[in-house]
Amino acid sequence: MTYILSYGIGSIIGLLFVLTLLFWLIRDIVQKKHSVLRNYPLIGRLRYFLESQGEYIRQYFIAGERDEMPFNRAARNWVYRTAKGVGGVIGFGSTNDLREPGSIIFVNAPFPVLDLEHVPTPAVIMGEGYCRDPYTARSLVNISGMSFGALSAPAVQALSKGAAAAGCWLDTGEGGLSPHHVEGNCEIIMQIGTARYGIRDQHGDFSKERALELSKRVSAFEIKLSQGAKPGKGGVLPGGKVTEEIAKIRGIPSGQDSLSPNRHSDIANIDELLDRIHLIRELTGKPVGVKTAIGGLEFSNTLCEAVLRRGKDYAPDFLVIDGGEGGSGAAPQVLADHMGMPIMEALPRVVDDLIAAGLKQRIKVVASGKLVTPAKAAWALCTGADFINTARGFMFSLGCIQAMRCHNNSCPTGITTHNKRLQRGLVVNEKFQRVANYAMGMNKELEMIAHSCGLKHARELRREHVRLVQTAGNSMAMNILYPYPVVKT
Ligand SMILES: Cc1cc2nc3c(=O)[nH]c(=O)nc-3n(C[C@H](O)[C@H](O)[C@H](O)COP(=O)(O)O)c2cc1C
Repeated sequence: MTYILSYGIGSIIGLLFVLTLLFWLIRDIVQKKHSVLRNYPLIGRLRYFLESQGEYIRQYFIAGERDEMPFNRAARNWVYRTAKGVGGVIGFGSTNDLREPGSIIFVNAPFPVLDLEHVPTPAVIMGEGYCRDPYTARSLVNISGMSFGALSAPAVQALSKGAAAAGCWLDTGEGGLSPHHVEGNCEIIMQIGTARYGIRDQHGDFSKERALELSKRVSAFEIKLSQGAKPGKGGVLPGGKVTEEIAKIRGIPSGQDSLSPNRHSDIANIDELLDRIHLIRELTGKPVGVKTAIGGLEFSNTLCEAVLRRGKDYAPDFLVIDGGEGGSGAAPQVLADHMGMPIMEALPRVVDDLIAAGLKQRIKVVASGKLVTPAKAAWALCTGADFINTARGFMFSLGCIQAMRCHNNSCPTGITTHNKRLQRGLVVNEKFQRVANYAMGMNKELEMIAHSCGLKHARELRREHVRLVQTAGNSMAMNILYPYPVVKT
């Protein structure tokens, strides 16, 4: 009798345990906020537990929060918190070692500006005076080019809606303009990659008709020469990611690798580049920019020389300078590891060439390359950038956990996969708000840095407002490291 009673109680407890587990499991699968929990409820719970208790556990046997690559935990957590709208405030103190070479230190003003003295950051107009329909860009921080193909449909939709809510631009990346890009009705920069996806005729050549058609919807065009992760190598979309829909938008067969050439077949030098810029701007009336990684001084030198020779009508309206540390949906490791200057070297050099040539006002500068937190973005503004682009910052805002699987179609958070089961984790109507929060949070903290430096808004940041730690552990002001050049007459 006692045996039967205890057996019965044991079974009831067991059943309650199983039911509770089932309840948790189902709750996790149907909730819409957390991608990893929707896709992997058990592993996801474990991950959240380790994340919440991480500070206590990690100090015994796991690397510190500033150690991981490409992005350390401190940077990622800042983006996650900002995207969730829970703020970037920390307790106890910073884990950032200010003696590390390359550390960024801003020059705080003894008497910073009061709230009532703040001025909203002015918009910057691209192509003003040079094209029929210039683009007034309001947000300092914007979404860098990532193609529909590298990204999933729900990821692009969430970025589009988030960009619209935050008032920033969304760059299409090189895969063409898809219906997902326009879903949120945001401002769009159409990238023209070396394969000219979405803007080519049946022979694969640049199509004027398509350019005209696209100009009705996009704010600007961007000719991509290269990106920091793989300069000298065209886009790579592995066959497993080339679905019917993507193949149709790109004008290529489905299921086969989508490989862009290493450069535009009809642009082999600076003069041909300027001709193409001029042609698209005259045809469409829209600003036309160029995206490139920087290997040495040749590009910006010859660009400035050619613009001065031919006239400012031929200048690009903006230059996107992508650092060698930039990300990619798929890139050969050797190029990702070793090709192209990091943004901290490339940006001041290009800006100096533009200033020296008297072209800095004419050609706006957009900087990218791991500028995912406000300090790095503010450094770029100090150096001379007019805007910041980030790709992976926005991926983190969508819930990316840096699983590094963008190239094999198995992203666990649904961002870079076309596997419908995994995409289920990414709920557009939840995630778009995080995208917007991140963009607005970055802009807000850029303002905060400017105010601490005694400035009314972030566009007043200059090189004298930031110092960089050198190898000896002492810091040096950016305007001493890179003195402003004299304008050549
Ligand atoms: C998944 C993914 C896809 C990308 N696709 C493109 C692309 O189509 N065209 C392009 O110019 N850059 C592309 N990039 C590079 C980014 O636009 C950006 O230049 C680079 O990642 C640096 O910014 P980040 O460090 O903030 O990510 C891609 C990057 C990632 C991570």
